[in-house]
Amino acid sequence: MKSLKILVIDDENLICWSFKKQYNNKGYEVWTAESGEKGLQLFELHDPDVVFIDNKLPGISGLEVLKGIKALKEDTLLVFMTAYGTIETAVKAMKSGAFEYVNKPFSFDEIDIILDNIKKRLQVENEIQVLRRQQQEEVMFDQVIGKSRAIGQIISLSRRIARSEASTILLLGESGTGKDLLAKVIHNESNRRGKPFVTINCASLPETLLESELFGYEKGAFTDAKRQKKGLFEIANGGAVYLDEIGEINVSLQVKLLGIIENKITRRLGGTNNRHVDVRIIAATNKNLEESIIEKTFREDLYYRLKVFTITLPTLRERKEDIPLLIRHFINFFNVQFKKNIKTISADAEKLLIKYDWPGNVREMRNVIERAIILETSENIRAESLPGEIRNNNAPRAEGKSLYDLVIPETGIVLHEIEKSIIKQALEKTNFNQTRAAQLLGVSRDSLRYKKKKYHL
Ligand SMILES: Nc1ncnc2c1ncn2[C@@H]1O[C@H](COP(=O)(O)OP(=O)(O)OP(=O)(O)O)[C@@H](O)[C@H]1O
Ligand SMILES: [Mg+2]
Repeated sequence: MKSLKILVIDDENLICWSFKKQYNNKGYEVWTAESGEKGLQLFELHDPDVVFIDNKLPGISGLEVLKGIKALKEDTLLVFMTAYGTIETAVKAMKSGAFEYVNKPFSFDEIDIILDNIKKRLQVENEIQVLRRQQQEEVMFDQVIGKSRAIGQIISLSRRIARSEASTILLLGESGTGKDLLAKVIHNESNRRGKPFVTINCASLPETLLESELFGYEKGAFTDAKRQKKGLFEIANGGAVYLDEIGEINVSLQVKLLGIIENKITRRLGGTNNRHVDVRIIAATNKNLEESIIEKTFREDLYYRLKVFTITLPTLRERKEDIPLLIRHFINFFNVQFKKNIKTISADAEKLLIKYDWPGNVREMRNVIERAIILETSENIRAESLPGEIRNNNAPRAEGKSLYDLVIPETGIVLHEIEKSIIKQALEKTNFNQTRAAQLLGVSRDSLRYKKKKYHL
């Protein structure tokens, strides 16, 4: 095990000296500082695991040092040292987030116990982190299902890009084609695996929140900034940040993003320190960014920067030969999930699935199989267990009159015009943010996209 790093901040030379004598080179590394100011400097320099702080210091008080360290690194384990009888200070220290306190004079037996507890605590935290990492399903290329040429090409290109030094990767493709899945796989198959993979959906947060998530902030940067917060780029240092729906971020954030890509420096809101970060940015969108450039909602410079390594995922209708494999894959998956034992799919049901157009791509297919497995009472998925739009796919869709072509009596209003108008309003209200418009309407994003296309909105 690596040695535990201890910082002791005390103006009493004897204390500092005894700590060093007691613990240095015995599984610990010890630094000492005779003032709070010096202590904070050493803290930044050595990033210790434990800090012992004396309450009475010549310059800034022990309590202030404690708060200062907490502001630099929240989860530091701090032990407060107080003179006998000053219990109020000890209470204050504990309230401010100290891990433990000791009364002076103390024996090193007491300190041994505290250090043992700290070691246990760090070990548990470490185990939690390991478990968390394992839980993040370790998806690799073999989880990207498909034997079509299109998928084969995507996998070999992604493999090369994953292992390269590429600092930005752009994933394009319709909704449900597997961009999230591929982003994770690329990370797991890169030499950044094991380092953080941080995901953020740019469409799900209002601008200001998105900015503070990405860059973090210092305490007091704005009214609600009661504590400092690390930005995602800092958190992901050494790993990757997945910016999903990058097409939805506003232009001023795009400028900041470009800055981070080009200079590899991030700065918290309200802060003055530039922090060097080494992150790979994987960005994804189902938008046509070239159109967004014309509409001036996406910056050309950022686009050219991102598109150096672009991977465009094929739609499912372009790779229909993969449909049987995907069906098999999802049957196995949901059998486990729902403790069912569906053997296979009937020939006519499979035919229907191959014939269907899949506007929502693999996600839609996954949902269809999930539903069928839940509903199915026989051993095999039968056509009856498939949703109406797939079963009735034989009917010529465009020509046939649908409910939406009905004219409301005595008004002359056609039903689909009302629908179009409602969708248009929702889109305008949300600045054409599809995720939020879909939320507003209470429909899935896939169906919103479909309608949007249908009505040329
Ligand atoms: N080739 C594939 N093999 C196996 N599963 C896949 C494949 N492609 C997509 N999926 C699955 O389909 C679902 C949708 O994929 P994903 O979320 O990656 O799509 P997306 O392109 O990010 O969509 P959106 O643009 O809507 O965010 C996921 O459950 C994913 O695991
Ligand atoms: Mg996605």
